[in-house]
Amino acid sequence: TGMAGMEHMEHMAGMENSLTGGEVSCDSLTAPESSAPIRKFELTAARTTLKLDNGKTVKAWTFNGSSPGLELRVTEGDRVVITLHNKDIEDGVTIHWHGIEVPCSQDGIAGLTQDAVPPGSQFTYTFIATTPGTYWYHSHQMSSIQVGKGLLGALIVEPKAKSAASTSETTALYQQLGSTMLVNGSAKGLTAPGLPGELVRLRLINAGNETMEFNVEGASFRVVAMDGHDLHEPGLLDGSIVPIGAGQRYDLLILVPNTGKVIITSPSAKSLPITIGSGSDPQHSAGGQLFSFIDYGTPLPNDTILQTDRRYNLKLGQNLFVKSINGKAFSDIPPMTVKEGDRVLITVSNVGGGDHPFHVHGHVFRVLSKNGVALHGSPVYLDTLLTKKGDTYELYLEANNPGLWMVHCHNLKHASMGMSMMLNYE
Ligand code: C2O
Ligand code: CU
Repeated sequence: TGMAGMEHMEHMAGMENSLTGGEVSCDSLTAPESSAPIRKFELTAARTTLKLDNGKTVKAWTFNGSSPGLELRVTEGDRVVITLHNKDIEDGVTIHWHGIEVPCSQDGIAGLTQDAVPPGSQFTYTFIATTPGTYWYHSHQMSSIQVGKGLLGALIVEPKAKSAASTSETTALYQQLGSTMLVNGSAKGLTAPGLPGELVRLRLINAGNETMEFNVEGASFRVVAMDGHDLHEPGLLDGSIVPIGAGQRYDLLILVPNTGKVIITSPSAKSLPITIGSGSDPQHSAGGQLFSFIDYGTPLPNDTILQTDRRYNLKLGQNLFVKSINGKAFSDIPPMTVKEGDRVLITVSNVGGGDHPFHVHGHVFRVLSKNGVALHGSPVYLDTLLTKKGDTYELYLEANNPGLWMVHCHNLKHASMGMSMMLNYE
């Protein structure tokens, strides 16, 4: 298969080969009945001409008329019910709830868990928002095209018991809309309130295809959560550079200094700073250490030694123009096969071809080691792991969500060029 063919594989019948074959089908796997409070939303996908705040006009595909679409805010434990309408996107649309452990039938994978919703039709998704944190949603029909056109948004699950730790919070979703980089839909940057002495929770979402490195100027901060999962006793950082892979989210808790202003910048989004507070400009820090979660925070007491039942080794790389896993491209890659209850050790190595943010649907995995060194800080649970060339990680995953699941690089161009596979329950 050439590149042109791969580009469209997400809606090709050809993908069926490696998708089916197990006993499990997604259709029956839905959210259990419960008395949880119901939160309803409507999202309409449509072709839209957007006028950006830099004066440019772009043809985009939007949810409810904007990109990012409506920020969905729910509370931990809510039963979330979202109806997707497709007004006029010809190839059809789905929504994937990135990072949420939804039942398989609600995962939004065109050609696998549902058919793409054609123009004039609708589909209703239901899931329980079990884990508070920062998530996002995006189309999963021809996703490298549709996400780039703007079919995405933030999804925030607030904790039931609000912590007193932060007094205000801000979402900052970075995306690549066509050739324009935006933060929360702005081509100019973002300003957020913050008073001297205040703690501000900044929810950073990388919805683009490239890794972004963030520099927090003028304040010390803590990385309090990654991919929606809290870190245990995160230490104070000063001048650290925070690398966020495509698809990942980092929550920073930032202490606004007495001078009253913090600026968060990224070399890959130079003209899109986040400015918190309105005091005097911070002294520019010279750029510090790259943040690493290997020894960040503290271990949990009595954290059990993990046993594993199955092992898989995945090498992320490229041959010629095909982005590959173990030297093969999508439909030729044998699935990882598990039984419910299995404890699975997945070794992921990046053997070339750029950064590969490794994403698993429907599950959260725990990072055990990097390049042979065991994590010795806080436990780290992710749905997307940024891997750089030469890195090898050991990941631990509990097979607790039966179904058929995609596993892929979240550089969606790489995914469409072959770096996608399946995790199937037998
Ligand atoms: Cu956000 Cu299949 O991914
Ligand atoms: Cu990749």
